[in-house]
Amino acid sequence: MESALDWHTARALLEWQWELGVDEAISDTPVDRFAYETALKEQARAKAAQMPQADAPPARAPQIDPVEEARKAANAARDLPGLRAALAGFEYCDLKKGARNLVFSDGVPGARVMIIGEAPGRDEDLQGKPFVGRAGQLLDKMLAPVGLSRKENVYISNVLPWRPPQNRDPKPDEIAMMQPFLQRHIALANPDLLVVVGNISCQALLGKRGITRLRGHWDQVGDRPALPMFHPAYLLRNPGAKREAWADILELAAKLEVIV
Ligand code: URA
Repeated sequence: MESALDWHTARALLEWQWELGVDEAISDTPVDRFAYETALKEQARAKAAQMPQADAPPARAPQIDPVEEARKAANAARDLPGLRAALAGFEYCDLKKGARNLVFSDGVPGARVMIIGEAPGRDEDLQGKPFVGRAGQLLDKMLAPVGLSRKENVYISNVLPWRPPQNRDPKPDEIAMMQPFLQRHIALANPDLLVVVGNISCQALLGKRGITRLRGHWDQVGDRPALPMFHPAYLLRNPGAKREAWADILELAAKLEVIV
């Protein structure tokens, strides 16, 4: 750009600016430094407004409802292998972390009788099958005289598919989380009737406790007849109760004769 100033005037002006402290030529157009500073402050204020305050509640991560997740996973299963896979992939139950194996079922899928126990113990955890320890052996011995066996005509599972640490009782939230899987398991196995062994199973399936009072009396799970029975582990500790357990086995056999 051609200057209107002559060389000497321009130099005098430059020297004057130099004396004032100007040491850098930045732009041909003037910069309003006051407006620039105001804009910077405005920017800082806007940024601060977006940042979480120290005393403000932390931003909430989306809440996951494990029971709802269980329901979605269970209901998406179209058959028993699909349900097993859904359980194997379910990551919301902490019991899974401490267990060696998923204990899904044993016996004959589609059998008329489905037995529901409580939770795997040590032997079941090791083998990945329900009722394979001492209690399971007693259960097999009780079923055999009436022609029932897991090799031929009985299907077996548990309320919980993973062993609780130190065989402690399952907690209500663990039962609630596994409930959709249990219900789906029953629906897909589709037995004529259920045998519900022990208090935990009665609580989970019938919403009732008090096995001494409940045992031997037919109840319903949905529209399926369900017979509460003493848990075989209880019978090992209280052999005197085997007499009542035997009466319940006979009751089971009689029912199978009636509902063809
Ligand atoms: N007790 C149960 O309730 N289930 C098993 O699988 C083993 C012991």
